[in-house]
Amino acid sequence: MSRLRLAARALRLALNRAHADPTADYDAASSDYDTFFSPVMGGHSTAALAEVPIAPGDSVVELACGTGHLTAEIIRRLDGRGTVRAVDKSPGMLDVAREKVRALTAGTSGLGVELSVGDMDSFIRGLPDRSADLVVVGWAICYTKPARLLAEIGRVLRPGGRVMVIETRADAHQALTEGLEKVFADDPSLLTSLIRVSLPKNAATVARWFTKAGLTVTGQRDGAQVIPAHTPAAVLEWVQRSGAAAGFKTAVDNGREQLVLDRVEAGLAELLRKKGTLEIQHTFVVVTGAKPVAPRARHGARTGEEAGVA
Ligand SMILES: C[S@@+](CC[C@H](N)C(=O)[O-])C[C@H]1O[C@@H](n2cnc3c(N)ncnc32)[C@H](O)[C@@H]1O
Repeated sequence: MSRLRLAARALRLALNRAHADPTADYDAASSDYDTFFSPVMGGHSTAALAEVPIAPGDSVVELACGTGHLTAEIIRRLDGRGTVRAVDKSPGMLDVAREKVRALTAGTSGLGVELSVGDMDSFIRGLPDRSADLVVVGWAICYTKPARLLAEIGRVLRPGGRVMVIETRADAHQALTEGLEKVFADDPSLLTSLIRVSLPKNAATVARWFTKAGLTVTGQRDGAQVIPAHTPAAVLEWVQRSGAAAGFKTAVDNGREQLVLDRVEAGLAELLRKKGTLEIQHTFVVVTGAKPVAPRARHGARTGEEAGVA
């Protein structure tokens, strides 16, 4: 019965377009992000970036750059020549990125790095056709309509240009999301807006988004990382301070956030008692692609070789 009430409330919120914006949570997590998220998940991001070519002189676009973990790696690989145009909606995250970029670009003249505060959909719509060699989206395509964003990415890439997406999978932090769902099901009034994210089921889902947008898939894989937190309190601290729970603050009824956290913690404690261990996995996908050199039909994937990808 309580699940039915939750579904009814979710439907009402959807009809009222009450969607939680993650920006406040990212602003709050910005000073901790590089202590909690980047050391655990950042290695997977840089490994994914290594799967696409970057050469000095390239023009790179980074959507939702956050604290600049990948921006820094892109700058290193440009080796003093090229451009980076990056955007993020959270001013707090971008402040951290600015510091990082300043340190890396001091004394270089052949490198142009622009960091803008804004929405990635509007940002990419403002970029000229065929003006980028590479577009990178780290842990953020879930905040947009993925196929629509990828179609814009295809427009902005030069023929043969590359795209790399790394994203959390829908089944990440399962025990935690199930616990949260149960708390909301028991008392649907705790949920005041929906956390609307398009998390993919697996890499094949993202590969289908690429194909639908007219991009050639050059690589796809699934991965998983156990988060370094094994007690209920440590798990809740990690997801909040890493930004992994972004959207939570606005989704929960004002002033009752701690009540929700306490109930989720109690649920995790029960799970720990039953299983003897608490292992939360951050599952993710990495998909790389390219804009075909010759125009082709929007449906039907072709290999990189067929598409004339260098
Ligand atoms: C998990 S962080 C990833 C940051 C960075 N790409 C990385 O690899 O560490 C997600 C970022 O997406 C940003 N974001 C969410 N929605 C956005 C939007 N619509 N436009 C621009 N940035 C957005 C958040 O502010 C946050 O910095």
